[in-house]
This record gives sequence, C-alpha cells and structure tokens, in this order.
Amino acid sequence: MSGAVVLGIETSCDETAAAVVRDGRIVLSSVVASQTDIHEEYAGVVPELASRAHVEQILPVVREALAAAGVGLGLIDAVAVGHRPGLIGSLLVGVSAAKALAWSLDKPLIGVDHVRAHLYSGVLTEDQSPQAFDEDALFPALGLIVSGGHTAVYRLRSWTQIERLGGTIDDAIGEAFDKAAVMLGLPFPGGPALDRLAQEPGADDRAVELPISRLGRESLDFSFSGLKTALLYQVKGVPNAREPVEPLPLTPKRKRDLAASFQRAAVEAVRIKLERAADGGGYKSLVTGGGVTANSRLRAELAAFAGAKGLKLLLPPMRYCMDNAAMIAGLGARQLAAGLVDDLTLQAEPTTSVAQAPSR
Ligand code: KG4
Ligand code: ZN
Repeated sequence: MSGAVVLGIETSCDETAAAVVRDGRIVLSSVVASQTDIHEEYAGVVPELASRAHVEQILPVVREALAAAGVGLGLIDAVAVGHRPGLIGSLLVGVSAAKALAWSLDKPLIGVDHVRAHLYSGVLTEDQSPQAFDEDALFPALGLIVSGGHTAVYRLRSWTQIERLGGTIDDAIGEAFDKAAVMLGLPFPGGPALDRLAQEPGADDRAVELPISRLGRESLDFSFSGLKTALLYQVKGVPNAREPVEPLPLTPKRKRDLAASFQRAAVEAVRIKLERAADGGGYKSLVTGGGVTANSRLRAELAAFAGAKGLKLLLPPMRYCMDNAAMIAGLGARQLAAGLVDDLTLQAEPTTSVAQAPSR
C-alpha cells in the first residue's frame, strides 16, 4: 500500500467516532464518544436523540482524533466516512462532516459500507511497524458479521469484492442478546452484561435446552427470534398454555443458568452456519467482525473452528469489535488504493441493497 494517511468518520448508530489510520492498517488514533448514557433509560437507541448527540460531538471528536494522532489536517490524504447502513439522521451528520472536510482540503472522499468495515477490523493494529501481511494468504475468505444490526456470512475475493451468502431473517444476534438481557433484568447495553453473567462461576449452560436455529438443511440464513421467545417463556411462563406452569423464580442462580444457556444456543447457531458455509468453499481464512465478536464464548468457538478447519483467523482486537472509525479509515484506504472514491454527491443510505452487495 501507499502509506496513505486516512481520516475516518463513523456516525451510523449511537457512537460518534473519528480515527486516523496509516497504510490501511496502523491506527494512529481512534476516538469513540459513546452515547450509552443518553439511551440507557430507554433500553435502546432513540434515533432522534442519537443524531442530535452526533451533531454536538462530531467536531470535538474529529479534533481529538487528529490531535491524538499528532497529524494536522494538511497531512490527511483522504477522508473516509461510514455512509451506509445505519440510522439515516445519524449517518447524515458524519457524511456532511466528511464532505465538508474533503471539499475544504481538496482531498478524496470515500464512502465506506459500515458492515464491510467491521469485516476489515481484524486487520487493524496499533503496532507502528507491524509484521508484513501476506494478503494472498487470506483470500478467498469466509466472512462473518455478528453485530447489533446484522448477522451474515460472506465470501470475500478481496476487501472490496464481497458476496453475501446468507443473513438473518429476523433479529440480529446482538439484538437478541440485548433483548435477552432485558428479560433477565440486566443493564443496557445488554450483550456484554449477559456475557459476564454467563461466565460467573456455577453458570450451567445446559440447565435449559433452548432452541438452536438451523432453518433449511442447506440454509446459510440465521434466525434468533425463536431463541428469544423461548427465553421469554422460561422467564415469564408460556402464554395461553393449556396447563399453565408457573415459571421458576428468577434467582441469581437461575439468571446465570439462563444467560449461559442462551449464550450457548446463540453461539452454536453461528457455528453451525459457519460449518455449512465453509464446506467446499476453498477458503483460506475466516474474517470476522461486529460487536458480538467481543463475546467470550464466540471468540473461543471461532478460534477452535478456524483451528479445526485450518483457516487463518482474523478476529478484531476487543477495542475494534464495537463501532469505531478506525475500521472505516482502514477499509477507506483499501478503496482509495483500488480507485473506489466518491464525489460530493455521496449519499447517506439506511440500507445496503442487494444490488450493491457483490462489489461495492
Ligand atoms: O457492531 P456494534 O457495535 O453495532 C452495530 O453495528 O450493530 O454491535 C453492538 C452489539 C450490541 O447488540 C451489543 O450488545 C453486542 O454488540 N455486544 C455483545 C458483546 N459485546 C457487545 N454481545 C454479546 N456479548 C458481548 N460480549
Ligand atoms: Zn457496527
């Protein structure tokens, strides 16, 4: 790569983030201003509050990222921004800021797909002179995204040539974790809290047999709504049952067991789909990303899976699992090198359409 220095901006959901990345890999700074405090009392992200907070945070966060990187605006080679998918009002803040910066600096503007950037996040490093990286050893790669908004598997021929093989037909896995956490009375955001509870001593992941979704025999799609409903019935009892059974009291031990059982079923559903997707695909690596790659059980399972299949595993460092702008700047640098740049007509888009899926 060219050693380009890219400023990345990310505002697709409830994190305002900016980062400076050199050579597509080396993170010089990564600043994330979380809005957790704002959305906590609603136990979910409120779009209108999110976009207002982005407006307040965007300039301080960009300034902080430049200062932390020790890079003035004059040294930036391009501005990359997550422009899809996400909450439209939130995306617009980042896209507008990126356009203004790119225009005033007279530098290329690069629209980056947030989900693909998650796939890229395992490449990021803070090591200033990292070991050389043999890209040919990665592709074709099997990709897995597990986040609050997305759960999907991909075939990657390169970082910019990506085909979606399957995805969730209802809830995303992170959303299911968050809703399960609400049922168990855990604090927002629920995924990490549920993970911690499931790791507590004495948590029995076999205490309750929750459904592991497989769908059709060859399906690479996911479904988490059945698992979520099964947990709800464990907590609240089955509605309209012919012979109603009082649910067991939600004691600390019962909560731990339910958390561990839920986590086992959710992770196993992912493993089964990876197993199917990997079959006969001639993959050299497994590249993963999204908030749920922070999950302790999934991380262990992915390492075991990749080891057993002889795949090189790219698992993001913990700080790049959740939404961040380093992944946007990193993939932005790859797009820059491939000539995939945009102009000021770049739009914020709430979804990634199927038509856009195969290449970019
Ligand atoms: O990728 P991300 O930051 O946002 C989206 O693009 O959606 O993912 C956030 C999701 C949330 O649902 C959060 O609960 C989940 O990732 N998450 C976890 C863990 N850490 C974050 N889920 C399970 N276990 C965790 N340790
Ligand atoms: Zn994300």
